[in-house]
Amino acid sequence: MQEKSNYDRRGFLLGSTALAGATAAGTLLPAGPAAAQQGKIKVGFMLPYTGTFAQLGVAITNGFKLAVDERGGKLGGREIEYFTVDDESNPAKAPENVNKLVQRDKVDVVVGTVHSGVAMGMAKVVRESGTLWINPNAGAADVTGPLCAPNIFRTSFSNWQTTYALGKVLKSRGIKTAVFITWKYAAGEEAMGGFKEGFEAEGGKMLKELYLPFPQVEFQALLTEIASIKPDAVACFFAGGGAAKFLKDYQAAGLKGKIPLYGSGFLTDGVLDAVGDAAEGVETTLHYADGLDTKKDKAFRLAYAKTFKLQPDVYAVQGYDAGQLLAAGLDAVKGNVADKPGMIKAMEAAKIDSPRGPWTLSKSHNPVQDMYLRKVVGKENKSMGVAWKALADPARGCKA
Ligand code: PHB
Repeated sequence: MQEKSNYDRRGFLLGSTALAGATAAGTLLPAGPAAAQQGKIKVGFMLPYTGTFAQLGVAITNGFKLAVDERGGKLGGREIEYFTVDDESNPAKAPENVNKLVQRDKVDVVVGTVHSGVAMGMAKVVRESGTLWINPNAGAADVTGPLCAPNIFRTSFSNWQTTYALGKVLKSRGIKTAVFITWKYAAGEEAMGGFKEGFEAEGGKMLKELYLPFPQVEFQALLTEIASIKPDAVACFFAGGGAAKFLKDYQAAGLKGKIPLYGSGFLTDGVLDAVGDAAEGVETTLHYADGLDTKKDKAFRLAYAKTFKLQPDVYAVQGYDAGQLLAAGLDAVKGNVADKPGMIKAMEAAKIDSPRGPWTLSKSHNPVQDMYLRKVVGKENKSMGVAWKALADPARGCKA
């Protein structure tokens, strides 16, 4: 337990006047817990920088750093030092990888990851160590469900949230039957579950759930099966490089224009430059969209484009908001990261002024947020309005 003190170990007063005097006299010897409070805050990124989700990891990192840079490179008055681990979206390596940050680098906060399976491996480690963890993407239900904990926060979404609102959208289009296709792992299964729940609540009927192992992209046989089932619509969860390949294959299989394709917005976010016209007209639901036309979003997009020479996407927004949430925590305790209860309290109460629109955290530490209906028009995921206002994840199994 770190004691807050105005004196260092040898009894030197550490007030600002005393510090200034000591520095001028050349006698300042930083030591002890109070001196440690003056050092840098250690932030550990655990994200994919290789593989099908590599671009997502980069966008999250960029977004986070932008939030810090906008605050003069400091949060709660202290500079930030970054540590980085490439988790390769490999769940088997997750405990070892997160321990590189927690045990070896002794970071104050872990920021990660993208892949739900990796996130579940991280949850177990940070629950034991008590390290503050901000999850800027992975939507695994467990993380804000059965594994929820005071030190675990998410600035993105639950997988359920991203597809639940699609049911209402499909109903309004007169769609009565659907097939869902995705990768066989937590994110795909939970996105499927959210879709099924929302669609059936509107009277829709699921004809089939189709799966392939992550991160495979051999879609041909499943697309042939879809053509023979002839549902009114296809819905899906794919992301990153796999999403781009799926959109192109859907078109090449002759299904585009015949059976309308829907999905969580990851299908079309960050991939439009890579898919030609294969995504044109595709409608998705997500907590971010192009053309929101708010002051905050415009400023964010301008700053991001200027800094990174790239257009931001939903992943950049989630990384940016992870930085904003950490800022809320550290500002409240004036950089005293040892005051974890103080930080947690401030983070729980934060109202995040996000490019996606303002959001707050639920009791299980997952964003309560608007879900937009988006439609691909040219190179944009154009906002068609709010599909579901202030959607909260049910947080099944969270006892916190
Ligand atoms: C996940 O594994 O939770 C996941 C990965 C990529 C996304 C969304 C969710 O775009």
